[in-house]
Amino acid sequence: MKTVAIYPGSFDPITNGHLDVLRRATSMFDHVIVGIAPNAEKHPLFTTPERLALTRAAIKGIRRASVEEFDGLLVDYAQRKKAQVLVRGLRAVSDFEYEFQMALMNRKLAARVETIFLMPKDEYTFISSRLVKEVAMLGGNVSDFVPVVVQKALKAKIAAG
Ligand code: PNS
Repeated sequence: MKTVAIYPGSFDPITNGHLDVLRRATSMFDHVIVGIAPNAEKHPLFTTPERLALTRAAIKGIRRASVEEFDGLLVDYAQRKKAQVLVRGLRAVSDFEYEFQMALMNRKLAARVETIFLMPKDEYTFISSRLVKEVAMLGGNVSDFVPVVVQKALKAKIAAG
């Protein structure tokens, strides 16, 4: 049986840290779907179609990975996709509390869907979409943190005001 994993998140925007976690996941599972949640309450910088397009461009070349948007509960989406695994990246202890809470809630909702945590390479552990946006907005160089396509999109977004 094929093992399908979902790598869910806001991906606003996708970073090199996300890509590192995705690569690790694709080496473990037959297929990994990057699931983009609209997360309207987080007031994303990029619209859902923009995040989909950026993520699609960024993951080009990573075999066994695809990207989709999903609405509603993550575990319902996982079950619709016949996914057995949810993948989340863990960068630091500070991520743990929120991640632990979500993993246990998801397990309560769907006992057969397992959450696994993957750690990105140490050089990516300080990268977050939130910080990348802040640095880019204030004119900082984000080329080490995001793929070129995202760098360009951030520039365009900032220029558009
Ligand atoms: O990248 P993020 O913003 O930390 O990702 C959070 C995400 C999208 C994984 C989480 O908000 C989520 O799973 N949203 C879908 C709705 C849902 O299932 N909520 C209950 C989670 S226990």
